[in-house]
Amino acid sequence: MIIAVDGPTASGKGTIAKRLAAHFGVPHLDTGLLYRAVGRQVSLDGGDPDSEADALAACAFPDVLLEDPVLRSEEVGGLASRVSIHPAVRTALFKRQRDFARAPGGAVLDGRDIGTVIAPDADVKLFITASVQERARRRWLEMTRTHIGREDEIPLAEIERDIVKRDARDINRADAPLKAAPDAFVIDTTSFNPDEAFDTVLDVVERALARR
Ligand code: DC
Repeated sequence: MIIAVDGPTASGKGTIAKRLAAHFGVPHLDTGLLYRAVGRQVSLDGGDPDSEADALAACAFPDVLLEDPVLRSEEVGGLASRVSIHPAVRTALFKRQRDFARAPGGAVLDGRDIGTVIAPDADVKLFITASVQERARRRWLEMTRTHIGREDEIPLAEIERDIVKRDARDINRADAPLKAAPDAFVIDTTSFNPDEAFDTVLDVVERALARR
């Protein structure tokens, strides 16, 4: 059983995907983390995230980098969005994601193109979204809580501007842009707390699985 969870940054898709995986007892892959690792590696290499060659070279990042908490920072999120534009980077990361999705027993993957490119054959496709203001508020709260890179000092308005910029880049890129698959369930979590969001999603997933 494959569950694809797509959506824009800070929509809550990661938390929902993690909880779905725990609920169904299958592994979870946060595919954004792979792009974040590439973005971080480019910066460690002194490369240019807008150069396809530099970004491709950074796809050979060591796996231990995936555990570095700095990957969760806004700065690395911005770098990830920039390197993710390059088709060569997407191709380099494709097999790892596809193999994870196809492992026996199933999986939950979250990202931008899971339902459209990585696992178009997924059993259930979700597109989780929320308003820009609410996503900025959640991101700010999370940063305040975790103190990653002292980003709790970043004003809310700046985070909001950054989210708008990142959305535009993710939606408008030519290769595998952020969009809901035609057969995805679109769930807006703006007015939900995390438990309400999860309960709503679980209900949708269980109904969809029962219909199969
Ligand atoms: O989900 P996230 O914020 O960790 O993702 C960071 C960036 O990585 C996002 O702005 C675009 C890119 N990304 C992608 O292009 N495709 C994915 N499946 C996941 C993330």
